[in-house]
Amino acid sequence: MQQLTIRDELVRRPRRLRRTAALRALTSETRLSPARLVYPLFVRAGRGVREPIGSMPGQFRLSVDLLAGEAAELRGLGIRAVLLFGIPERKDAAGSGAYDPDGIVPQAIRALRDADPELVIAADVCLCEYTTHGHCGVIRDGQVDNDETLELLAQTATALAAAGADIVAPSAMMDGQVAAIRRALDGAGHHQVAVMAYSAKYASVFYGPFREAAGSAPQFGDRRGYQMDPPNVREALREIALDVEEGADLVMVKPALAYLDVIRAARDSFQVPLAAYNVSGEYAMVMAAAERGWLDGRAAALEILTAIARAGADVIITYFAKEAARHLT
Ligand code: PBG
Repeated sequence: MQQLTIRDELVRRPRRLRRTAALRALTSETRLSPARLVYPLFVRAGRGVREPIGSMPGQFRLSVDLLAGEAAELRGLGIRAVLLFGIPERKDAAGSGAYDPDGIVPQAIRALRDADPELVIAADVCLCEYTTHGHCGVIRDGQVDNDETLELLAQTATALAAAGADIVAPSAMMDGQVAAIRRALDGAGHHQVAVMAYSAKYASVFYGPFREAAGSAPQFGDRRGYQMDPPNVREALREIALDVEEGADLVMVKPALAYLDVIRAARDSFQVPLAAYNVSGEYAMVMAAAERGWLDGRAAALEILTAIARAGADVIITYFAKEAARHLT
């Protein structure tokens, strides 16, 4: 039987560079590194508490005293950045736990800073974990009042900066939040603290597990009046442009997996570092399928993170950070 039906010299053979692992690594277009991963941490009151989060297997709510150990583990894995979320003991209508200078996240920042002076400490700036109604701002006449909320977000960012955060990350989707925060930080002398804006944050079903983790589900209505509408991509670019003008140092697209086109568009349009948040629901889906033996969870995580990097993200915030780093180092 004849071996070739086309003339051999006309056959192009892309498979040559796929033949061995070393050839593939040599010619890889996208490379993940633990240095570009950010690990989210949920911090709560108590001592010695490591409380599993039901909707996010493998993730925990940690008390402040356990953070030094966590920092050491992350350092060992080459993960150099965390993003902090607080679970306060008490909530109120104005979310005052968010801007309490001795609140749970400022305590966590001080503990982490003591444990690892070089760790990049980012902290979420939002009210939803701290309000009884679970919305991201203060309520007036049944609506989240944008401008009244700005003042509280600015106070929150200032408290986090004073505690030692390197980066504050406003996620409330209030108009003008980056400018309000930048002005407040500079006014308090925190010129060196960077703002990572959750610029294109969509009203997504994929935040479900996080809301269980943080106890932050809205008690009435939903977040569609302030978070972005999933069909829109031009609007995302406009949101990012506004945040860059207002002084954002990094911008973010969130969620990541269902929004890879938005990440790509943002990468092509802006020069600032771009973060993507591989959110709780994206994590939970993979973990649930892996638990049932329906797919290989670690391989799925690495493929997803690679796709997010390939789409153009410089920084990836992910609950898979440790698992990925263990494979990468
Ligand atoms: C706070 C905030 C949320 C997330 C990050 N910051 C929840 C929300 O907007 O409802 C979600 C993160 C995740 O799902 O992993 N506003």
